[in-house]
Amino acid sequence: MDSLAFAHTGFFTTESAEKLADLLQRAAPGKISMVYFVSGGSEAIEAALKMARQYHLERDEKERTHFIARHQSYHGNTIGALSVGGNVWRREPFKEMLMPSTHIAPCYFYRNSYAGESENDYGQRIANELETEIVRLGPKKVAAFIAETVGGATAGVIPPVPGYFKRIREICNKYGVLLILDEVMCGMGRTGSLFAYEQEQIDADIVCVAKGLGGGYQPIGAVLTTEKIYRAFQEGSGLFQHGHTYMGHPTACAAALAVQKKVQNNNLLDLVCKRGEELNKRLR
Ligand SMILES: Cc1ncc(COP(=O)(O)O)c(C=O)c1O
Repeated sequence: MDSLAFAHTGFFTTESAEKLADLLQRAAPGKISMVYFVSGGSEAIEAALKMARQYHLERDEKERTHFIARHQSYHGNTIGALSVGGNVWRREPFKEMLMPSTHIAPCYFYRNSYAGESENDYGQRIANELETEIVRLGPKKVAAFIAETVGGATAGVIPPVPGYFKRIREICNKYGVLLILDEVMCGMGRTGSLFAYEQEQIDADIVCVAKGLGGGYQPIGAVLTTEKIYRAFQEGSGLFQHGHTYMGHPTACAAALAVQKKVQNNNLLDLVCKRGEELNKRLR
C-alpha cells in the first residue's frame, strides 16, 4: 500500500496483479490461461456471464443469450448472478427484474437418486437433463451452462458423482455451449486441490474464484478463461465491454498473492486432504 495504493487498470498494470495472474495461470488446470481480477464473487459471476455472451457475439452467434443453471445453487446477489442462481427465497422479491434463465436438477445423489441406481447411472441421467434443456430452448440460443463444481451455500456441501461433469462437458461441446464453473466457494484449496474441478478431469471455459483467493484479507475475485475465448475478443471487437474502477486493485492483489504463497509454501492443500479424511472418519 505504501509503494502503490491504487492504479486504474484502464491505463496501468501493476506488479502484484501480474504476479498473482501468473500464479493462478500456472496453477489452473487444462486450457485456462487468462485472468481477469474483480472485487468479489458476485462481480466474478457478472463478468463471466457477460464474457460468455460477448464471446458468442464476437463469433457472430447473436442468438446465444440464454443461460442454464441448476436448482439449489447460489451464484451471488447481484442481478445477473441472482438470475442464474437457483435459491428460490433469494430470487423471490426480485423475480420480475431477473434475466431469463432456466434451471436443471443439481447433482445430488444422496437425496435424488432412484432406489438401486448406481452413482454412475445417476450422474449420467442428471447430466443429460442439460441436453434436454438445450434442445428444448434451441441449441443455438444457449450461451452457457453455469454450475458450482461442489454445491455450496444453498444446497449444502454436495460433491458431484464421478463422471457427471465429464458428461456435462461432452454436452457443452456438442452444442457450442460454454461451461462456466463457479468455484467462488469450493475453489482455492477447499477441496484439497487449488481448483475443485481438477478432480473431475475436465476442461472449463470460464472459472470464477473469490473467497479463499484473498483469504478474507482483502476483497478480491477472479475470472479465468482460455486463450481461445481471449482470442475471440482480441480478433473481434478488441475489448471486453466491461470493467469496474477497483478491478485488479494492487492492494487486493498483493494480499491475495501473500495468501496464495502461504498456501503453497506451507503445503496447506496436503493439510486440507488430511483434515478432510479425519473429518470424514468422525462423521461416519
Ligand atoms: C458459489 C458462490 N458463488 C458466488 C458467491 C457470491 O460471492 P460474493 O458474496 O463474494 O459476492 C458465493 C458467496 O457465497 C458463492 O458461494
